[in-house]
Amino acid sequence: GDAAPTPTPTLRFEAVPKNKNDLVSIASGYRVSILHALGDPLQSGDAAWADDGSETPDSYNRRIGDGHDGMHYFGLSNAGAWQADRSDRGLLCVNHEYVVGPHCLHPNGRTAGSVRVAAEVDKEIAAHGVSVCEVKRGADMSLSMVRDSPFNRRITSATLMDFSGPAKGSNLLRTKQSPTGTTTRGTNNNCANGYTPWGTYLTCEENYLNVIGRAADDDAARSAKEVTALNRSGLPQNRKSPYLWDTPGSSDDYARWNASVTGASAEDDFRNTANNFGWIVEIDPFSPSSNPVKRTALGRFNHEGCWPCKAVAGRPVVFYMGDDGGSEYIYKFVSKANWDPADVGKGLATGAKYMDQGTLYAAKFNADGSGNWLELTFGKNGIDSSHTTYPFADQADVLINPRLAADKLGPTKMDRPEWGAVNPLNGEVYMSLTNNSARVAPTATPTGYQLRPDAANPRYYEDLKNGTSVQKGNPNGHIIRWREAGDDPAASAFTWDIYLFAAQADAAADVNLSKLTDVNDFSCPDGLWFDSRGILWIQTDDSAYTDVTNCMMLAAVPGKVGDGGAATAAGGTSTIKGANANGTTVRRFLTGPKDCEITGIAMTPDRKTLFFNVQHPGEAASADHGAKAYTSYWPASQTDGAAKKRPRSATVAVTRSDGGEIAL
Ligand code: FEO
Ligand code: CA
Ligand code: CA
Ligand code: CA
Repeated sequence: GDAAPTPTPTLRFEAVPKNKNDLVSIASGYRVSILHALGDPLQSGDAAWADDGSETPDSYNRRIGDGHDGMHYFGLSNAGAWQADRSDRGLLCVNHEYVVGPHCLHPNGRTAGSVRVAAEVDKEIAAHGVSVCEVKRGADMSLSMVRDSPFNRRITSATLMDFSGPAKGSNLLRTKQSPTGTTTRGTNNNCANGYTPWGTYLTCEENYLNVIGRAADDDAARSAKEVTALNRSGLPQNRKSPYLWDTPGSSDDYARWNASVTGASAEDDFRNTANNFGWIVEIDPFSPSSNPVKRTALGRFNHEGCWPCKAVAGRPVVFYMGDDGGSEYIYKFVSKANWDPADVGKGLATGAKYMDQGTLYAAKFNADGSGNWLELTFGKNGIDSSHTTYPFADQADVLINPRLAADKLGPTKMDRPEWGAVNPLNGEVYMSLTNNSARVAPTATPTGYQLRPDAANPRYYEDLKNGTSVQKGNPNGHIIRWREAGDDPAASAFTWDIYLFAAQADAAADVNLSKLTDVNDFSCPDGLWFDSRGILWIQTDDSAYTDVTNCMMLAAVPGKVGDGGAATAAGGTSTIKGANANGTTVRRFLTGPKDCEITGIAMTPDRKTLFFNVQHPGEAASADHGAKAYTSYWPASQTDGAAKKRPRSATVAVTRSDGGEIAL
């Protein structure tokens, strides 16, 4: 059962030292097991991972995908429904963000050249998306995969899915494969996640531009308005996508990865294909035959994740979201319908009730510690056909291009919003701001997309290396938090502070503003999640401190807004207090293998099994495509001693040796 949460949890594990070992290193008294890794079969009819890239493209419709990222555990009842308090049997939904390298997936890495090999692209399309896997607890409290479970499922970048909400049927969603703009194929670049109070999974489309290109002369075939929209979403003409999925041949299965005008109308080509991605996608893991649904009311951008407030009967359901583009915005969605606990367990029908009608807002963080939610509704605040650079047609147009709507109102450009998390003890919302190379000194003249620091994003450079190389920007990131006015998630105003500035322990005092020490210094917060006791888990996707340590996961007991104090916009001084206290309230729980990112977190309701993901171990070798020597051999380095096997993204299950609750 799900015991009552401890009011003020105390961390009771020893901090793991920083290190560069090719292992998951975890606090003593804990053990780790690999739940699943790239290529593991979900069905017994497919052979085990062969470690030579010989798995067929088709088999990835039944194998664990690549690039494990956001995930969630749902307890599974004997009747096959959601059982929120069940810990010994469940469904684990895992995002497969992208194909790493792709040096591990193919026999000899990615074949070089500007035209991709069709079989390689087919395999990559099938290795993206989401996996749903039944898991069952064994005697040691860990959980393992249940092969052949009827709930096991792969959702890929080719799976048929539906549009829902105000943009469904919009002329901006129409393609040759869906002339009515009501369906599309696939989800991809599924980064962080969310989950709903009614028991469904949310997967969030982030870097979809990885797989979409655009022809050299495409602007000439477009209206000025269309060109404005494409440029604002980061898809200028003459752009080749890194994955070149549009190159193996002329079939629609490849042509759909190029957003260019080639036919007489949108129904004849894939000019709108980019508009089919960048959405929040709802999946009912308990209904394996249901189509995933792209919920358009929550807007289209580089979605990191989608985190619910605590549902309260008679009040709207609220989701918080970050747009992980350089200097982009934080958003929230407030449902029109008020929460009715009787809607639990009704799957996608409940999703339609709460996620297809509502209001989208973008966040403005004022220098005095107050904040405002700016409404992005067609016909309000000048978001209408009178807009000079982008005359909006209707709410579908606003939702397909919410960045352009938000630009009109001036929300705060953030240092790359990654994961959010809602504190179950007080409703406060936290969000990682991972880093931003675009911050410049307050006195500098910004060019292009550079920005001066502001109160919510106050750091603009750090001298990271021996006092010689001054790196512009905010390389280490920070974590911001806010409390809604009146503790009402639907409020239009909030108060905020900065909870934690990431930094090296040996950095100067005006850089290490949170006074981090060797037991808890870190860089580039990304994954963030509150467990039911109010412990905040922080994961890193770092590029600034990796000369000293691999990426990591920390646990924190964070207090509340006001404890941190606001930093000044001058970009150096801060009144921050109390965030660290020598590891009492922030402590390193584990470190990952070489050249990985630690991301994705889930826990059983009894808090005795914790899951996290190791994404892209050995990524530094990926440019070598088929490198003879990887920089990591994990997970074999963990499970198989000296075996030199391909590095693979994987889900890790953590248990305490004595079977107790994690972290306490
Ligand atoms: Fe896929 Fe913003 O991380
Ligand atoms: Ca991330
Ligand atoms: Ca990241
Ligand atoms: Ca990543």
